[in-house]
Amino acid sequence: MARIFITGTNQGIGLELARQYTQRGDEVLATCRTVSSALRAVGCEIIENVDVADDSSVGVLAQVVGRRKLDMLINNAGILTSESFNTLDYDHMRAQYEVNALGPLRVTHRLRENLGAGAKVGLVTSRVGSMQDNSSGGNYGYRMSKAAANMAGVNLSHDLRPRGVAVALLHPGYVRTNMTGGNGITDAVTAAGGLIECMDALSLETTGTFWHAEGYELPW
Ligand SMILES: NC(=O)c1ccc[n+]([C@@H]2O[C@H](COP(=O)([O-])OP(=O)(O)OC[C@H]3O[C@@H](n4cnc5c(N)ncnc54)[C@H](OP(=O)(O)O)[C@@H]3O)[C@@H](O)[C@H]2O)c1
Repeated sequence: MARIFITGTNQGIGLELARQYTQRGDEVLATCRTVSSALRAVGCEIIENVDVADDSSVGVLAQVVGRRKLDMLINNAGILTSESFNTLDYDHMRAQYEVNALGPLRVTHRLRENLGAGAKVGLVTSRVGSMQDNSSGGNYGYRMSKAAANMAGVNLSHDLRPRGVAVALLHPGYVRTNMTGGNGITDAVTAAGGLIECMDALSLETTGTFWHAEGYELPW
């Protein structure tokens, strides 16, 4: 049984990750801002009032986790607002940077002493943060924040390697959740299952790489 820590678990992909890890017998520490009945029904440990964009909130979170060792830390929480070139909104773009780029770094840094040799860290970023994959433009804040999250993940892979901790950058697919307004080509059950397989396969040999939940590597 592994101890798995996940952010953003009250809905969407995070909720499904919490459910599937719990179902396979792992001990899940599921964090959220506000608990949902669906998350309560999972039956795992829930840590509420966790805002990954807020230093003091993440500080309190670290106190609640205490000295417990984590086998996996999955940074899943994220936000999306759409800005086209003609409708740039810098406040929205800053907010996405806080949550999507600084959030995973803030949480991982605060919990670094909970990660021992053999532990794994996942950052659910997005292929829209890939330069090579960008063939359409738009979504300035989201794309830029996810590109920054990818860089944070590669940096973390270097800084955590000496501790024996591996890091993966993960794209869940285009998933039907509230974030996409229910649009997408796959569902949260399939996406979470794929992400779990990616995390299972992650090792120090593959640390710092970027994976699609369908099991293939993505370009930067
Ligand atoms: N759906 C897709 O097609 C897709 C594609 C690529 C990448 N992703 C990424 O996958 C991850 C999960 O997305 P999703 O589709 O499951 O979206 P979702 O259903 O909207 O869930 C997002 C989760 O993040 C949480 N969150 C947002 N801001 C937060 C904050 N400041 N502090 C803590 N938690 C916060 C939300 O909590 P609240 O309920 O409190 O807002 C929610 O639990 C995100 O990182 C997203 O960018 C999704």
